[in-house]
Amino acid sequence: MNNFPSVLESTADLSDKHIQGLLELASKFQKRESSGPSFPKIPVVSTFFLENSTRTKNSFAVAAMRLGAHYIDFNPENSSLNKGERLEETFRTLHCQGVELLIVRASESQLLSEFKKSTPIRLINGGDGTHQHPTQALLDLMTLQNELGNISGKKIAIIGDCRHSRVANSLIELLPRLGMKITLCGPKHFLPTSNIPNIEMTTELEDTFDCDALYLLRIQKERHINDIDYDYSLYPDEYGISLKKIEPLKKKIPIYHPGPANIGMEIGEDVIHSPFYRGYHQVKNSVPMRMAIIQAILQNGDKSIGQACRLDQVL
Ligand code: NCD
Repeated sequence: MNNFPSVLESTADLSDKHIQGLLELASKFQKRESSGPSFPKIPVVSTFFLENSTRTKNSFAVAAMRLGAHYIDFNPENSSLNKGERLEETFRTLHCQGVELLIVRASESQLLSEFKKSTPIRLINGGDGTHQHPTQALLDLMTLQNELGNISGKKIAIIGDCRHSRVANSLIELLPRLGMKITLCGPKHFLPTSNIPNIEMTTELEDTFDCDALYLLRIQKERHINDIDYDYSLYPDEYGISLKKIEPLKKKIPIYHPGPANIGMEIGEDVIHSPFYRGYHQVKNSVPMRMAIIQAILQNGDKSIGQACRLDQVL
């Protein structure tokens, strides 16, 4: 457009011709967007993380890009949520802008539950409080199967702060469905407060030494609501896994950790550098598993998603 201002500061910078030209151009783009398969739309996938992350956020980003989607690292902490906008409105707004899928992480448990009946946008839980971390459990299942083959009848010991771990909750839901047996181990302060059917619990590390895999958890202090009456300095000695501690094990077993690991607490430096450690396998598998999850959810042709702002319904 001729003489279009290089700095658009005010509507007064635009001539009437500019305004008319913009209206025509915008409606051309609008028609193109809604004119279907001749203009295939590249899906836009965005992370929406209200809590810190290294592994989950980046692997979703890489997975989205490997699938050929456009990726946005939306930062909700700097968004209009801080101006009092409701979460649902923010989700709806992003969908109206063309974002197809959000991967959401929050310190609030069950933040996404209210959207399961009717949702303004496709949503994947990237970890919510102490509740669930479904995609971590799925990539862990893939990693376990790669290593152990059929996991039915095999035993895994989850050691550490099980009570506050959304990863543990997802593993407890998922792995027994494939026949895997789970033992939770840690100081009593870190074990669930009530029994879970078919899940064993112990405060004795030695009780777990007949298992086929160890899964270590970080002490998640940021998720402890009340002060815990436990001397954390005892943890490395009592439950931290070093090569020496696992010497009595009859067989050599893989050691998993969802990360981030606190080396010297739940896991020794010697273990991280040993052939037993599978943490990097988990990270590697996170990309193909998250590619599969993104593809599956994008292919779900549920026309009710984002009802209020579907272009084909307003035109
Ligand atoms: C976990 C998380 O954030 O839930 N890490 C991860 O996503 N890979 C575990 C943790 O925080 O300790």
